[in-house]
Amino acid sequence: MSEGVSQADRPVEIHAAGGDLFSKFDPLIQMREGLLASGQLDPFSLVMEKVLSPTRAICNGRETILLGTYNYMGMTFDPDVIAAGKQALDEFGAGTTGSRVLNGTYQGHRECEDALKEFYGMDHAMVFSTGYQANLGIISTIAGKGDYIVLDIDSHASIWDGCKLGDAEIVPFKHNDIEAMEKRLKRIPAGAGKLVILEGVYSMLGDIAPLKEMIAVAKANGAMVLVDEAHSMGFIGPNGRGVAEDQGVLDDVDFVIGTFSKSVGTVGGFCVSNHPKFEIMRLVCRPYVFTASLPPSVVATAATSIRKLMHSGNKRAHLWKNSRVLHAGLKARGFSLGTQTPQSAIIAVIMPDLERGAAMWEALLREGLYVNLARPPATPANMTLLRCSLCAEHTGEQVETVLGMFERAGKAVGII
Ligand SMILES: Cc1ncc(COP(=O)(O)O)c(C=O)c1O
Repeated sequence: MSEGVSQADRPVEIHAAGGDLFSKFDPLIQMREGLLASGQLDPFSLVMEKVLSPTRAICNGRETILLGTYNYMGMTFDPDVIAAGKQALDEFGAGTTGSRVLNGTYQGHRECEDALKEFYGMDHAMVFSTGYQANLGIISTIAGKGDYIVLDIDSHASIWDGCKLGDAEIVPFKHNDIEAMEKRLKRIPAGAGKLVILEGVYSMLGDIAPLKEMIAVAKANGAMVLVDEAHSMGFIGPNGRGVAEDQGVLDDVDFVIGTFSKSVGTVGGFCVSNHPKFEIMRLVCRPYVFTASLPPSVVATAATSIRKLMHSGNKRAHLWKNSRVLHAGLKARGFSLGTQTPQSAIIAVIMPDLERGAAMWEALLREGLYVNLARPPATPANMTLLRCSLCAEHTGEQVETVLGMFERAGKAVGII
């Protein structure tokens, strides 16, 4: 699973019995084998045999509605995006075979960074090979020995891993709890460097952060602020810049992290910033320096997509409508949801346990619907979730069809 929260999203460390380093995975192997022994389809090895559009694919030989792809703005099949990728492939070849600081910066990488600067209205943009690496790189490089990182306990695995890669002291606080965050900030020794890390949308439950209040507290306590807007870029905010824009505090954010693997519709990651010394990061940030840069076709598709997202107000409005209809429809059918109101394009449906969650996942797939199954330890509070992520290309009719599928599957499995 590419998604995940918390430092707990790692195998439990048990001493290797008889020297077999794999024995630490035994509990997970047993759980998986137990689940599959009952004839359950494996929810983590689905193959998309053919992708027909941002919202439809052939899975197990049948046409399936895609409701778990994070392809929020449906840019994967945009004709301009595809044309830009094909042209770059023809003109620049399949890959760069090099680091951004040596032979791996092509014109397309610069154009992609220019598109990001324009999209966010910021002075600096740095493109990484994935969003995961953007978090690893920025967090581990800016917060060093003697500095403190104060972060939400439900942060994405890439944020935790970025903390682990660096030398700063790590201070987690309860999810979205402003007071808990403030308490921890106040305990940090005077004079130490402080970085507060938040996300715009938390992807497990689809809830947003009270960034306005949290950033005010962070700034009042002398901290710099990094916000990961992976699940909000392109969709949330008047210009799709994310939750910080929507809450009017983008100017107070020191570093915005994002990904191309969701609304942008390809692969890659980035950080944008107004910090006057930001460009030095290109020389000191190891996950930027010591890896190959993105292929020319990828940066060309990303740049084209980002520029189109600047003018996608209608799509954003349609996606909000989809989110509201799905949330209200699931609630009306008796499902328990991750948020009281729709806060993003992610609607998380809470399952009673892993067995019934997996059975529901399979029942939906047999209906012709793909959603994501998420289980502990990737989820908060040990929940099993069916996570739905909507796309601006889902039609109103598809959303109604999805609701009918949920109703039939929910009754068959005994969840509603
Ligand atoms: C909040 C958050 N940050 C970062 C990432 C990493 O993005 P990428 O897929 O580009 O590695 C993800 C991806 O799931 C995410 O959800």
